[in-house]
Amino acid sequence: MMKPFLLKDIKKIYGHDAPGASPLSIWIRDGLIEAIAPVHEIETRAGEAFQDAEVLDASGWIVMPGLVDSHTHLLFAGSRENELYLRAEGRPYMDILKSGGGIYHTVNAVRKASEEELMRHGLKYLDRALGFGITTIEIKSGYGLDFEGEEKMLRVIHRLNDLHAVDVVPTYLVHTVPKDMDRKRYIDLVAEKMIPAFRRYADWFDIFLEKDVFDAREAERLTQRALDQGYCVGMHTNQMNDIGGVPLADALGVRHVDHLEILTDEDARRIVANENLFPVFLPAAEAFVFSKHVGQIRKVLDIPDRIVLSTDFNPGSSPVLDPYFVMAMAVLRYRISDPFLLIDAFTANPAAMLGLADRGVIREGACADLVCLGLENFEQIPYFSTLPSVEKVMKNGIPINPSP
Ligand code: NIG
Ligand code: FE
Repeated sequence: MMKPFLLKDIKKIYGHDAPGASPLSIWIRDGLIEAIAPVHEIETRAGEAFQDAEVLDASGWIVMPGLVDSHTHLLFAGSRENELYLRAEGRPYMDILKSGGGIYHTVNAVRKASEEELMRHGLKYLDRALGFGITTIEIKSGYGLDFEGEEKMLRVIHRLNDLHAVDVVPTYLVHTVPKDMDRKRYIDLVAEKMIPAFRRYADWFDIFLEKDVFDAREAERLTQRALDQGYCVGMHTNQMNDIGGVPLADALGVRHVDHLEILTDEDARRIVANENLFPVFLPAAEAFVFSKHVGQIRKVLDIPDRIVLSTDFNPGSSPVLDPYFVMAMAVLRYRISDPFLLIDAFTANPAAMLGLADRGVIREGACADLVCLGLENFEQIPYFSTLPSVEKVMKNGIPINPSP
C-alpha cells in the first residue's frame, strides 16, 4: 500500500484561492487527490491515516496540474541540427523534405535503429518530459512509413507507456509517402492494411495535410477509414498552405486541428462553432522553421476552454520539449496577455481534448498529477520561463525530483 501524502501549506494552488489566513494543503491517497483544505481540516477528515503520511513542506511553492503535452513526435532516432542552419540560410522546410532530407532523414535513422535503441531514446526524453512536469504525453509514430517501420514505432510507444511513469497516448501518424513506393499503392496499403492493423496499438490517428504531402481528397479517404475503425483523429493542417483541412475536419468529426498558421476568418468561425473541435497551436515549430506567419490563435480567443498549446517535440521543426519556453513563445509571437489561458492550454484543455476527464485540473477525486514550482505566482511561469523552477513533480501521487 502506498503511504498517504501531504503537500503542506502550499503558497498558491492553481484554480484555488486560499480563504483568509490559513494556506491550503493537498492530501493524496492511492494516487488521487482526496482533499484540498487547510491542514487542520485535513487532519480531522483523515483520522488515523494522518499520522502515517509522508509530509512535504510546500510553503515555498506554487502548485499547478501536471502538464498534458498533446502533440509530440518524441520517438525518433538521430538528429537534424544541420537542417536548422540550412533553414537559417533561407532553405524552406518543405524544400529539405522534397530533396530527401527532413522527415525522410529521420525515417532512415528509425528504420536502422533496433527496438532497444528506440526504447532507450524514448525513455531518455520521457525522463526529461517528466522533469518539466509533463505527466501525460501524446507520441506519434510517422517515422517508419512502411508497415514494419510504423508497427515497430507503435510497439515501442506502447512499451514506453508500460515502463515509464508518464502516461503515453499513442497515435498512428500517416506522415508522408515513402521515397521508394508508388503513391497510390501506399495510400491503398495505409487504408486497407495499416489503419485496421494498428488500431490495437493506438486510439488516435493523425495525418499531415499539406501541399506536396497529402491533399484533401487523400486525407478524407484515410481519415474516414480511421474513423470507421474507431480511431479519434487529429490533423496537421494549415501550417504552410490552406488546402481545405479545416472544412474537412469540421465535416468529418475530427477532434483537433494543429498548426493553423494560415487560417481564413471563415475557417476560424467553423472551429469556434464546432464544440467538439479543438485548435492546437505550436509556436516553437513556427519559430524553428522560420515561418513568416504565426498560429492564428487570436481568431479563436472566444473559445478559451478549447485552445491548446503543445511542444510538437520532434527532430525537425521543433527540437523543443520545454513547455515553459512554448508558453513564453505564445506570449511573444501571439501577444497573449493572459497567463492563465496559457496554463489552461497545457493542462485542462488538452486533457478535455484527449478525453482524459481524471486530470488537467486540481480537484478532489482527480489523479494526483502535480507540478510544484519555486515561483511567487502563476504569472511568473511564462515570464521566468528560462529559469528552471520545477521543484517537485507528483505523478499519481508519487513524488519525483526533476533531474538537474
Ligand atoms: O509537426 N509537419 C509535419 N510534422 C512535424 C515535423 C516532423 C519532422 O520534421 O520531423 C510537425 O511539424
Ligand atoms: Fe507535429
